[in-house]
Amino acid sequence: MAATPSPRCDRTPAWAALQAHFDAAGRGFDLREAFAADAGRATAFAQEAPYVFADLSKNLLDARTEQLLLQLARECGLEAKRDAMFAGEHINATEDRAVMHWLLRCPPGAASAAAVPAELAQVHETLGAMLAYAEKVRADHTITDVVNIGIGGSDLGPQMAVQALAEFAAPGKHFHFVSNVDGHELDAVLEDLAPEHTLFLIASKTFTTAETMANAQSAKRWYAQSGGNDIAGHFAALTTNVEAARAFGIETTFGFWDWVGGRYSMWSAIGLPIALAIGAEGFRAFLAGAHAMDEHFRTAPLASNLPVRLGLLDVWYRNFHRFTSRSIAPYHAALRRLPAYLQQLEMESNGKQVDLAGQRLPYGTSPVLWGEPGTNGQHAYFQMLHQGTDVVPLEFIAVHEPGHTLEGHHAKLLANCIAQAQALMVGKQGDAAGPPQGGAAPSGGSEPHAVGERGGQIAGGHRNFPGNRPSSFFVLERLTPEALGAFIAMHEHRVFVSGALWGINSFDQWGVELGKVLAKDVEPRLASGDIAGLDQSTAALVRRLGRMV
Ligand code: F6P
Repeated sequence: MAATPSPRCDRTPAWAALQAHFDAAGRGFDLREAFAADAGRATAFAQEAPYVFADLSKNLLDARTEQLLLQLARECGLEAKRDAMFAGEHINATEDRAVMHWLLRCPPGAASAAAVPAELAQVHETLGAMLAYAEKVRADHTITDVVNIGIGGSDLGPQMAVQALAEFAAPGKHFHFVSNVDGHELDAVLEDLAPEHTLFLIASKTFTTAETMANAQSAKRWYAQSGGNDIAGHFAALTTNVEAARAFGIETTFGFWDWVGGRYSMWSAIGLPIALAIGAEGFRAFLAGAHAMDEHFRTAPLASNLPVRLGLLDVWYRNFHRFTSRSIAPYHAALRRLPAYLQQLEMESNGKQVDLAGQRLPYGTSPVLWGEPGTNGQHAYFQMLHQGTDVVPLEFIAVHEPGHTLEGHHAKLLANCIAQAQALMVGKQGDAAGPPQGGAAPSGGSEPHAVGERGGQIAGGHRNFPGNRPSSFFVLERLTPEALGAFIAMHEHRVFVSGALWGINSFDQWGVELGKVLAKDVEPRLASGDIAGLDQSTAALVRRLGRMV
């Protein structure tokens, strides 16, 4: 966010005040005491936003914390940075690019697009063409299978959304997502396909990504070898590199622009699988939901702005409580790929060690994100969340109205979701019959390894639940295209907020490059056995695995 210089967050007065507040009241903060002392806490930390309700009250913060975090946001120039993004400034400084995924969601004439009318016109031209194509394919009953070949942002977003919105999908079309260069994946998909009934979408912003190119070539070969003779009719490309797609032999291409980051691209042509699944109207609803959240983020005061409150909480947890991970618990099976999607969104955006000027940062940035749908996680790793030595903030996602009619299931699901958040917070002393009331001893959960460091006997031993474990609780009324769009846009903006405060470029990803370069060097060595210049361990692995290739 080079366009808007601002002081480094840890050099602001607000940071020092937050550290003092943490030392005085944050480290030993106890949620049970906080609720006992303030009958209005649940309301004060509830936030309504378009299509999303958030209960943030079970987090380790009080009004003073939020006040100081908002001060930090102001001292770091958050509003100016946000406005720079919406003005189309080149805030992706290392790649000299604007960051305008939000523009993909703007309706014609949107006030937020005032600075970039030409780009908005291009967006709508491409969107119109893509949606017309989607409707044509939806009406073509000879196409029964759609195979999206892409990786990272060209896979995770569309895959997550197609699964999430399956309830709204047209019957008669099956969607497959192939991302890994591991041939097992493509092989398993191709096994059941017939070329005349299959449409391949080659999704790649750059159209150079090694995995995608290898899978696309193999798909093309399979298509020809299986008797297919209409590449133009059975392959389409979604890319900013239309020339490379044409050189590959694809005539149907839908483009987008360098100001759309890969992990922010499912609103562009990369979203074609979503449009094929839920139709033009559904896709427009998906965009409209995201736009509603964009407007909330762009215009709501910081104190009642959901992405801002979440991003500030993320900074509080990462830099003061020093939590290193966050777990996502979607209590809706259709959101099973959400954790994987959010991993790329947040960890590729904010997994950075230098500021915009390339100076090494002395504070932590992106946490590790992980998770599984509830209730499955409860029977796997929730043990660690309840009684482990590290505190991991959780994010529960509940959907009020189910998309099925099976009796009794939804109440059980919601009960589990609510009860887990409750259990994490209230805890239970091993010998006591019920949960501790206000005034219970703080768990010391804000410190990693707090239990082990203290040592000694814990009352109730193995049956003691320390409680005071933080969580946020999101509610969507229904998992509709609008709600999903808004919910995802909320996450995009929250990542923007923490990245802006940390002073990093959330929109590049240089960290993925080295491995790509080295893989190109290693591949021929597996065949040749040449180990010259390799470190000892790499050489030994090349020798061992080379024999098998
Ligand atoms: O290697 C990382 C990355 O560049 C991601 O940022 C991106 O989403 C993914 O690869 C795929 O890139 P492309 O869409 O250009 O194939």
